Amino acid sequence: MSVTILGIESSCDDTSAAVIKDGYLLSNLIANQSVHEQYGGVVPELASRAHQQNIIPVVDQALKIAGVTKEQINAVAFTRGPGLLGSLLVGTSFAKSFSLAMDIPLVEVNHLQAHILVHFIKEMEKEKKMPEFPFLCLLVSGGHTQIVIIKSHQEMEIIGQTIDDAAGEAFDKCAKVIGLPYPGGPVIDTNAQNGNKLAFKFNRPRIKNLDYSFSGLKTSFLYFIRDRIKENPDFIKENMMDLCASIQYTIIEILMDKLEKAAKQTGIKQIAVAGGVSANSGLRNAILERAAKHRWETFIPEFKFTTDNAAMIAITGYYRYLNGEFASQNITPMARFAY
Ligand code: KG4
Ligand code: ZN
Repeated sequence: MSVTILGIESSCDDTSAAVIKDGYLLSNLIANQSVHEQYGGVVPELASRAHQQNIIPVVDQALKIAGVTKEQINAVAFTRGPGLLGSLLVGTSFAKSFSLAMDIPLVEVNHLQAHILVHFIKEMEKEKKMPEFPFLCLLVSGGHTQIVIIKSHQEMEIIGQTIDDAAGEAFDKCAKVIGLPYPGGPVIDTNAQNGNKLAFKFNRPRIKNLDYSFSGLKTSFLYFIRDRIKENPDFIKENMMDLCASIQYTIIEILMDKLEKAAKQTGIKQIAVAGGVSANSGLRNAILERAAKHRWETFIPEFKFTTDNAAMIAITGYYRYLNGEFASQNITPMARFAY
């Protein structure tokens, strides 16, 4: 039997809808919210309002592009969390109403698991190598940094995670210190390509086990810049490219160090990466370098599947649907949502 899933993502500042049929992506629409740029970060209330405006046109467009009618949808999957509560509420309410109106199952999805499952999205006329279980995934986004063992489409074990800031937050906060617009990660990435990554050295955290910490790095970067500006007011301008390359290099080395340890400890050689920060060109190269050294088989998502999107919600919903894991109409979103 053929299965068509509508996926809805609204956890932060992107409103997205996607249609997946039998694991194949038919459409993936994303409405970005530019309203936050002037504030240097996402303003939750403005995000909820923008979701409210965007959700119906985005779903409508996703169905049209997919070439399916709403009657052909077998289930609606939505992000239950983690995320901003007001933002999640918009997607959750929409999905519940759609499920009720169309009399089809409702499927809840954990946003973090969904980032990981992008590796299982198939596209027509595109060959794709998929990981086999168990594999390791470095999940790096604006809100989370985790090393996860993926044992099946549903069963995942976090073996390391940040005890404070996420890697994406480290990129965004350091970018803010040197006057770059939000989100700073992609801008640092672009600038870093013209800079010397060894120009400046920043302290690395000393944390045992497989956990991460990025708040110390952010503070030491802030103090470093403050001290240099005292000596030379044009310090940032004169060293922008080298600063971006050096901070990016430090973040990547911190990430890779624990990932290498995790691979060694578990003996797993299939290594995947996911989440917004996996769009970073330096991180992608670092994974490929380590893969050659340790004989890893790597899984690096296409750029369009790195940052928030509903295709990842639809694919996760698809596997949950196949397992008969449906949600009730009483379900509520969860700002914090462990798995
Ligand atoms: O996964 P995502 O879209 O949203 C969350 O679930 O958090 O990740 C957004 C994060 C932001 O912190 C953004 O700066 C970062 O991903 N990001 C990047 C790059 N593209 C996005 N960080 C570094 N380099 C990039 N090219
Ligand atoms: Zn995300």
